[in-house]
Amino acid sequence: MLDEQTVEINLPNRLGLERLVMGSVAALAKSVGFGPSRVEDLKTAVAEACINAVQHGNKDRPRARVIVTMNFKDNVFTVSVHDEGEGLKSEPKDPDIVRILDNLDPPVGFGTFLMRKLMDQVEFLKKANQGHEVRMAMKLGD
Ligand SMILES: Nc1ncnc2c1ncn2[C@@H]1O[C@H](COP(=O)(O)OP(=O)(O)O)[C@@H](O)[C@H]1O
Ligand SMILES: [Mg+2]
Repeated sequence: MLDEQTVEINLPNRLGLERLVMGSVAALAKSVGFGPSRVEDLKTAVAEACINAVQHGNKDRPRARVIVTMNFKDNVFTVSVHDEGEGLKSEPKDPDIVRILDNLDPPVGFGTFLMRKLMDQVEFLKKANQGHEVRMAMKLGD
């Protein structure tokens, strides 16, 4: 539900458009008092979520949409990135750098790793017949 605090951005399913979201998130976060380094953290996390929505969620389908909502309430900045896919098959694990360098693991898993490291809370939510949403939160003052 959109309330009077919530901003929504509805994007075509194209790589590169995450830049629009990074700019909007940064402007809103700055305006409510987040410092430069937390704003950079937010931009990185949200860019990774948008790229995943295009590549893994909507799977490069040109007609699919990526919908980003953001709001700031009770000192918490929340960003959700919604796609039309089926969501993650399992909770993501931290990438094992040594195994990746030894070619034992594929070089994947860094996007979700960054989201979990940079944000205070991250949830991957499957919506019954309505796609998938990654919901991330950052508290002001930490
Ligand atoms: N929006 C999404 N929809 C479906 N699967 C996803 C989504 N985001 C992430 N995943 C799954 O989680 C895995 C890890 O994502 P990530 O850490 O960003 O690594 P990468 O994108 O390099 O594979 C992806 O490979 C994919 O299987
Ligand atoms: Mg990724």
